[in-house]
Formats: sequence, structure tokens, C-alpha cells
Amino acid sequence: MPDPVEWWNECGTTNLSLSGRRYEANNPMIRITEQDRAVCVDAEQNPGRRPGSSEEKGSGITMVVAEETLAIDGGSPVRATPMPGTTSMSSRAMGDEEIAALTEVIRSGKLGRHEGSKVKELERAFAELYGAKHAVAVSSGSAAVHTAVATVNPEPGDEFITTPCSDFGTVLGVLWQNAIPVFADLDPETLGLDPASVESRITPRTRGIIAVHPFGAPPDLDALRGVADRHGIPLIEDCAQSQLGEWNGHLAGSIGDLACFSLNSTKHLNAGEGGMVLTSSDELAERARLFADKAWPRQEVQRYSLFLGQNYRMNELSAAVALVGLSRIAENVAHRRAVAKAILDGIAGLSIVRAPRIPAGSQSSYWILHLWADPAIDIDWLADAISAEGIPFRPRYVSPLYTWPVFTDAATYGASRFPFRSEFREDDVRYGPGLCPRYEGVREHLLVMSLDELWEMSDAEDVVRALKKVDVSIRRQSLS
Ligand SMILES: Cc1ncc(COP(=O)(O)O)c(C=O)c1O
Repeated sequence: MPDPVEWWNECGTTNLSLSGRRYEANNPMIRITEQDRAVCVDAEQNPGRRPGSSEEKGSGITMVVAEETLAIDGGSPVRATPMPGTTSMSSRAMGDEEIAALTEVIRSGKLGRHEGSKVKELERAFAELYGAKHAVAVSSGSAAVHTAVATVNPEPGDEFITTPCSDFGTVLGVLWQNAIPVFADLDPETLGLDPASVESRITPRTRGIIAVHPFGAPPDLDALRGVADRHGIPLIEDCAQSQLGEWNGHLAGSIGDLACFSLNSTKHLNAGEGGMVLTSSDELAERARLFADKAWPRQEVQRYSLFLGQNYRMNELSAAVALVGLSRIAENVAHRRAVAKAILDGIAGLSIVRAPRIPAGSQSSYWILHLWADPAIDIDWLADAISAEGIPFRPRYVSPLYTWPVFTDAATYGASRFPFRSEFREDDVRYGPGLCPRYEGVREHLLVMSLDELWEMSDAEDVVRALKKVDVSIRRQSLS
């Protein structure tokens, strides 16, 4: 067999692609693999064929090239059919039981929480699942966090320390209570709130910590509980991205003074929209229940509002759907964990991405799967290359909340800048890039993708195959 490099160079092409690898003629850095040798042999037996030329179609050479050329470069994708989609029946376990439950509610004519029994039943089942004394069902995850913040009853200008890596629902309740979100930096590996950063941002105005469980994995709840206790402030767990997450043997949602969940259409427990607040404090539960129901003490004959509340009531239809989902939640989360494990085990040893290190004692419920990309690779290109293979990874997740116009432009109440500037504070609170440098830095290497309970193991295999294909291609390019 001739020396493969010489052979290719003799072919007279200046640029060619072999097994997905790009070559320049006479490039001394070319390393030939066994697979390449096989192609060379085939080409040798079929002289006159020029690799990469159109008349090559159907030859052994073209087949190998086509198999490994990245889809982003015109090759065939690993996956031609779309992955199961979060908001479609391809991915979400629901059907006849939900339809029967909805029919029952509609036939009863009792669609509101105070007439029917489904919301109350859901509250009981949710509280029991998490070992909480009370659950208050509300209309969304945002409403749940707002209810929790309002339950703490801050003064205007008081502060809540939270994460920059979340949905706006984590902070909108703080702003509606005319309080100030203060952003602490994150553990660069897990993206959970860093307790040391939280503690460094405590001031005499701090009224609480809101700890998100990013992508389904609890942050260090022992340490955050410790910070809250040392400073005599409540810990609010924002479990909107989580169900049955665990921290050191405790269910996430059972460690904070209050815990909030989202039942929106993308979440583990899908009621279309909905939320839940958990607490084991009778006092907090009473205030949360009132806040979400116009602060209306319903036991009184005469109607009045005790304080400024909201109507965040969940309706019976959402509760009926959620109750069915709750009966399957353990199975649902276990399946997501198995799928995530198959992917994370499958990509061990790749150089383009790696699995995040999960702290001992933390168990994610995998709302989203996140991976860390090799910092040397352009994250937009990488997400595009993997997505072109049919696996919809997105780059970066959200930009830090404090860089959003609502904060940078103080787009709150008219042109007032309230509550950032007000008679309730001496300073004028400003937001902008640089507040949480660790998160800003690491998100440049973050890839995220939703997971759902109806993914098959074959879907996980496709994810692994796509990542391996891109990995092989990049490794080869870096050799050539
Ligand atoms: C961490 C977090 N908090 C709050 C919310 C708000 O939940 P909802 O969309 O149900 O209002 C979300 C929604 O994605 C979230 O991810």
C-alpha cells in the first residue's frame, strides 16, 4: 500500500475531505487512521477517482466521507426526525386520565377552587409528597415566588439576594413588592447560588434569600440555610425547575422556610400553568393563602381585604390535570434521571463537552440537561453543529437577569426608577454587566437542552452519537 499521505497529495487536490477530516495537500501534520487506510486501499483499487469530486458518488470514499461529514458542513445528520418536543404529546406523558379528570370537573359545574375539591386535593397531595405541613396552590410559578416574598412582608427598599441565572419569575415578585433584587454569584460548576457570595451581599436591608435549583439540581442548601439562620432571614427555595430534587437525603423544597414550584407547560408537572407554595409554618401559610386570594378572610360573613393581596387562585381544571401528573411524578423523574445518566455516561471522555460535576448529596430532577463545552471552542458554532445533527442544544442559557432592560433601564413604574430610587433608600440602585463575573464567564461555555419523561433510551443514544461525531471531527481537525 502506498503511503496514504503521498497518495492523497498525488491526487492533485489542494483541499479534500476524508472521513470528515479536512486536509490541505502536503500538510505534514496529517495523521492517518486505520479507517482512512481502508479508504485509501479502496481508492487505490479504483484508480482515477478523485476524492471529493462529484463523480465519486457511490464509491467507498464518498460513503465514508458522507458518513462522518458534519451535518453543519452538508453531511447527513445523526438524527433526521425531531427529538421529542417538550410541549407536544411526543414528549409529555398525559392522556385519557387527564381527559377523564377534566370531564369530571366540567360535569360538576364547579370550576373555581372555592367550589370544587381538586385544588384542595392537589394541595394535600403536594404537601404530603414533600413532607410539608401546608401547600398553597397558585396560578403560576411566578405567582408562587411573589406569594412567598409577599408572605415575608418586606418594607419597600428591602433586599432579597438571589441568582442572576433564572427566569424572570424568580425576581418579579420582589419588584412587585417594591423590594430590591440583589444578585449573588454562582458556583461555576453547578450554577447554584454560592453561599459565600450570598453572605458577602447581606446588608441590614436583606429580608431573604431566594435559592433557585438550576435545571433541577439543588444548590448547597445546608450552607444557604446556615447563612439565612446566621442572619435571621428566611430562605425561599425556588424549585420551579425541579421536582423531587434531593439535597443530602432531604427533598429539595423541604429545607427553606417557603418553597415555590411552577406547573407551567414545560415543567415536570405540567398543568399548562400553575404554581405551588409549601411551608411548614402555620403563620406563613395563613398569610400566603390570604395573599393569593385577595387577602379575603373567607370565614367572615362580611367581605373585606385584610391587606394588599393578589388573585393568584388556581382553578379546578389545572388542579385536576396536575393531580394526575403528580401521581406519576416519581416515575417521571426517575425516567429523566435514567435518560440523563445514559447521556452523561455516554459522553465520558469526549473533549468537546463534559458533564457538570454534581456535588455529593445533590440529585437533579433534570428539567434541563446542561453540559460544559471546551472553552477553546466557539460556543455558537458548537451548538449549531450539534443542533444540525438533530440534537437541539442551545448555547449559554439566559443572560444574567441584571443585564435585562427591566433592570438596566429601571423599566418599572413609569419613569420613576422606583423601587431602585426612592425615599426608602439612600442610594440609587444600578444594574449592569459585571455584578456576577463568575456566571458571566462560565455561561460562555454552557450548553443546555430540555429533557422530558417520554424520551426513549434510543433518544439518549442519538444525543451521544451526535456529540461523539462532532467530537471526532473537531479532534481530527485539530490534528490536521
Ligand atoms: C426558576 C424559575 N422560577 C420561576 C419561574 C416562573 O414560573 P412560571 O413560568 O410558572 O411563572 C420559572 C419558570 O420557568 C423558573 O424557571
